[in-house]
Amino acid sequence: MNEREGKSYLEKVKETFEYFKKVAPFKPDIIITLGTGLASLGDRINKVAVFPYRELPNFPFSTVETHKGELCFGILEGKKVVVLQGRFHFYEGYSAKEITFPLRVLSLFKPKIYLVSNAAGGLNLTFKSGDLMLIKDHINLIPDNPLRGPNYEGWGPRFPDLSCAYDPELREIFKKVALTLGEEIKEGVYVAVPGPSLETPAETRFLRLIGADAVGMSTVPEVIVAVHAGLKVLGVSVISNVNDPDNFKPILFSEVVEQSKKAEKRLEKLIREFLKELKL
Ligand code: HPA
Repeated sequence: MNEREGKSYLEKVKETFEYFKKVAPFKPDIIITLGTGLASLGDRINKVAVFPYRELPNFPFSTVETHKGELCFGILEGKKVVVLQGRFHFYEGYSAKEITFPLRVLSLFKPKIYLVSNAAGGLNLTFKSGDLMLIKDHINLIPDNPLRGPNYEGWGPRFPDLSCAYDPELREIFKKVALTLGEEIKEGVYVAVPGPSLETPAETRFLRLIGADAVGMSTVPEVIVAVHAGLKVLGVSVISNVNDPDNFKPILFSEVVEQSKKAEKRLEKLIREFLKELKL
């Protein structure tokens, strides 16, 4: 994006926010991003207003077939939520700023929580496909940062602290809910890689060595913006495949989608119960 030609990022965000202020049915408390194969939760919320991305001013549109590309305001377990069904990835050619454009705009409503899910490859060999992993920390290997460039103090600090990017209190609530439902929850570090090619066995070994438990191609740019904007974050990965560098199996994207879909119902139940527990 060349800011010297046309509108600046700041102008685009402001313009789109002004649009939402007119059309949004309410000020959301929670923003939810659903990842690969996990879109159906969005279909189940009590929708109040739906906006296809292509109808929204300045919105990029999703090029990934498994992502739906719409934003909906609705009520889920009594909470005012806005769901981003379909997200943008670095591998599609978007910058980290473009990827996080929808979240940046919605963050100006001053919501409290950002709930994000993704499909990820397991690096921790105690994981199996279909497991759910609460993200406790991340490593950014995407060669971009959404906060690069001018900082607007009204949006957040120049150097945001990421020592607790994934809110410990929210994680405790989620773990309690899981225990009540009899769901086993793993917890670990998510590493974001640029993609779209999947990892080699040697890269997988490297990612394990640097302390990651799961690898994917999303989420980190959004979490950086969410923390910058003062939101509390809860992130969950669906472990769609497990990559053992010493016994490496081909990673099929179709399998990633299939495994995520299988985990969808469980994740949906957990998110619903989690939302019920939240006092906003
Ligand atoms: N690697 C990177 N991204 C992924 C994977 C993987 O193994 N599985 C799902 N998303």
